[in-house]
Amino acid sequence: MARRVLITGGAGFIGSHTALVLLEQGYELVVLDNFDNSSPEALKRVKTLANSNALELVEGDVRDLDAVNRAFDRGGPVDGVIHFAGLKAVAESVANPLHYWDVNLNGSRVLATAMEQHQCRTLVFSSTSTVYGEPEVFPLHEEMPTAPVHPYAQTKLAVEQMLSALCRSGDWRVACLRYFNPVGAHPSGRIGEDPLGTPNNLFPFITQVAAGRRDKLRIFGQDYSTHDGTGIRDYLHVMDLAEAHSVTLDHLFHSTAPHQLTLNIGTGCGLSVLDVVRGFEKATGLPIPYEVVARRPGDVPKLEGCPQKAKDILGWSAKRDLAQMCRDGWTWQQANPLGYRSVP
Ligand code: NAD
Ligand code: UFG
Repeated sequence: MARRVLITGGAGFIGSHTALVLLEQGYELVVLDNFDNSSPEALKRVKTLANSNALELVEGDVRDLDAVNRAFDRGGPVDGVIHFAGLKAVAESVANPLHYWDVNLNGSRVLATAMEQHQCRTLVFSSTSTVYGEPEVFPLHEEMPTAPVHPYAQTKLAVEQMLSALCRSGDWRVACLRYFNPVGAHPSGRIGEDPLGTPNNLFPFITQVAAGRRDKLRIFGQDYSTHDGTGIRDYLHVMDLAEAHSVTLDHLFHSTAPHQLTLNIGTGCGLSVLDVVRGFEKATGLPIPYEVVARRPGDVPKLEGCPQKAKDILGWSAKRDLAQMCRDGWTWQQANPLGYRSVP
C-alpha cells in the first residue's frame, strides 16, 4: 500500500518540488498550506506534471490544531510528515521577531502535538545553514557550534532543539535538514520560485533582471574577505533538495525509533555573488548589469557546508551544477514572467 505523507507548506518553492518527486514515487500526499507565500496553482501544476491525483489539499494554518487535525483525518493514516510551512525572510524576522517565533516555533509545536495525537512520529524538518551564524572555519560540519545571529535562524534552531527533546522522550524519528541556498526550478518551467514583490534573494533577482523586470542587480558589498570581495554561499538545485527529502523519508521509514539526524544539504562548493552572475551570463547568454552597494545588514561573508554526512547516511549528493540551476531558473522565469500570477 502507498505510504501517506503530510506536507506542510507543500505549495511553496521547496514544498512543491518535493511534492512532485514524492508523487512520482507513488506516495499519497496531503498538503496543509495557508497560501501565505504561495498559490494553489502550484499544486495543480504538480499534479499535472506527475500525472497523479494522489494529492489532497487542506487549506489552513499550521498553528491551528483543528486545521492540522483535519489534515491528519483526511483519508488513511499518515505515515510521515515533512514540515516546510514557515517564514524565511531574515530582515523581516529582525523587524517582526514575535511573528517569526509564532509561525516557526509555535507552528512546529502545534504540528508535533497533532503528530503525537495521531501516533505519527516520523518527521523531516526544514532547518537552515544560517543556524551556524557567522562561522570562521570551513567547511561547516553538523557537529560544529551553532550561533544564530537573527530571529529567523534562532527560531529554526529552537525547533531543532524541541525535536531533539521529543526524540529523547519517545519513539520519534526526526531528520533536521540544514539547507544551504536552494535555487533553480523544475526543468519543465512549470513550477519554480515565486516571490511576492521585490525578491529578497539573489537568484530570483537575477532572473528578473535578465527578463527586464528590474534594471540591475545590486550586489550587497564587495569588501568581504572572499576571493572577489562578494559574499559566498552554497547554492544547490531545488530538484536536488527535493530528492534529498525523498531519500531522507525513506531512511526514516527504515530506521528503528528513536532516531535523530541533523544533516547539511548543499553541494559543498561555495560560490560568490559574482561567480553566480557570471555563471548565469554564461549559461543563458544574457547580460546581468549590476552595481555594488553597501553590505546588507545581517549578511555573513560565507556559508559553505560539508555534505559528506548526507552522502554517508543517505547516499545523497547534489547532482546538478550551476549551469543547470541557471538554465532551469531562467526557463521558469521566461514561461511565467509574473510567477503563478501569469495565469489569466
Ligand atoms: P516558501 O515561502 O516558498 O514556502 C513556505 C510555504 O509555507 C508556503 O507555501 C506558505 O504559504 C506556507 N506557510 C507559511 N506560513 C504558514 C502557516 N502558518 N501555515 C501553513 N502554511 C504556511 O519557502 P521555501 O523556500 O519553500 O521554504 C520552505 C521551508 O524551508 C521554510 O520553512 C524555510 O524557512 C526553509 N528554508 C528555506 C530556505 C530557502 O532558501 N528557500 C533555506 C533554508 C530553509
Ligand atoms: N545578494 C545580493 N543582492 C541581492 C540579493 C542577495 O548581493 O539582491 C547577496 C547577499 O548579500 C548574499 C548572497 O547574495 O551574499 C545570497 O543572498 P540570498 O538573500 O539569496 O540568501 P541568504 O544566504 O541571505 O539566505 C537564504 C534564505 C534563507 C536561508 C539561507 C540558507 O533567504 O531563508 O539562504 O543559507 F536560510
